[in-house]
Amino acid sequence: MSWDALQGTTVTHFASPLEGDRFGLSIGRVVVGQDAIESTAAQELVGLLDTATEELLIVRWPTHMVALGAAAAASQRSIIPADVLMYWEVPASRLQPDDVALAERGLRTAVPTGADPATRRALEHVVRDSFRDYGNHYTANPRLDRQLALDGYLDWASRSLAHDPEDVVLLMHEDEPVGVATLTVGNDGDDLEILLAGLTGAVQGQGWYHHLLAGVGDQARARGCGRVIISTQAHNLRVQRAWARAGFRPFGAVTTVHAMRRP
Ligand SMILES: CC(C)(COP(=O)(O)OP(=O)(O)OC[C@H]1O[C@@H](n2cnc3c(N)ncnc32)[C@H](O)[C@@H]1OP(=O)(O)O)[C@@H](O)C(=O)NCCC(=O)NCCS
Repeated sequence: MSWDALQGTTVTHFASPLEGDRFGLSIGRVVVGQDAIESTAAQELVGLLDTATEELLIVRWPTHMVALGAAAAASQRSIIPADVLMYWEVPASRLQPDDVALAERGLRTAVPTGADPATRRALEHVVRDSFRDYGNHYTANPRLDRQLALDGYLDWASRSLAHDPEDVVLLMHEDEPVGVATLTVGNDGDDLEILLAGLTGAVQGQGWYHHLLAGVGDQARARGCGRVIISTQAHNLRVQRAWARAGFRPFGAVTTVHAMRRP
């Protein structure tokens, strides 16, 4: 979920038909805005969990609002702790390409010029390979099929490509796609948010991810964005080490729970 979609002062509830169709049950999303008042949000949340009709509500709130866990547990739904998302930021100026290292390793970054089938296949290949065993909030819920969760990531990446090919950065090794980042520009025009980013398993563990991030930095500067932001589950320590090395710092934490209607 993009950082912009988590902003606001209220508790919002909306249907999520794409996810519902994918997993074969009715799904809604509930978001407690970053600037909501905790005590009011707690009351609204418990009422909403009891009145909403969807079988599954995917609920997100700012992690510092520690009262909301108990509020959700006081509802008639069963609550599955699903993840904590950590948001990290870096000035775009810090993500600079190293042309010498790129040339030495046979690497380059590329932004597709169109959403042609070959580009789509390259994107899907990298996302499938890098996110294959990825633990996320869907996989926390035994009611949801893990394979369909991966399909969701593939869909999400393909939608970025279809929306605007410039929202995709590929890392190429000797003309083979080995890394991908999908992007969206925030509402204020200053943030370039990385929605998904990964490297194929075969090329991980040798410092190549930094080159993909530098390609994103190029895109940010080209679009006049001053900040690059990105998020992951708190347990994904490996990528957070890479972000710290690249100069990112954490600035937000968001809790996700799945609230299941009891039979
Ligand atoms: C996120 C991801 C791209 C990171 O890949 P990675 O290979 O670990 O990252 P790097 O390219 O920075 O490589 C760093 C590792 O290589 C090692 N390394 C070896 N040679 C290196 C070199 N010359 N320079 C830097 N690091 C080197 C480092 O020690 C480091 O290992 P460590 O984290 O255990 O200390 C990869 O884990 C991935 O695709 N994961 C699945 C998707 C995902 O989690 N995405 C993030 C959320 S969107």
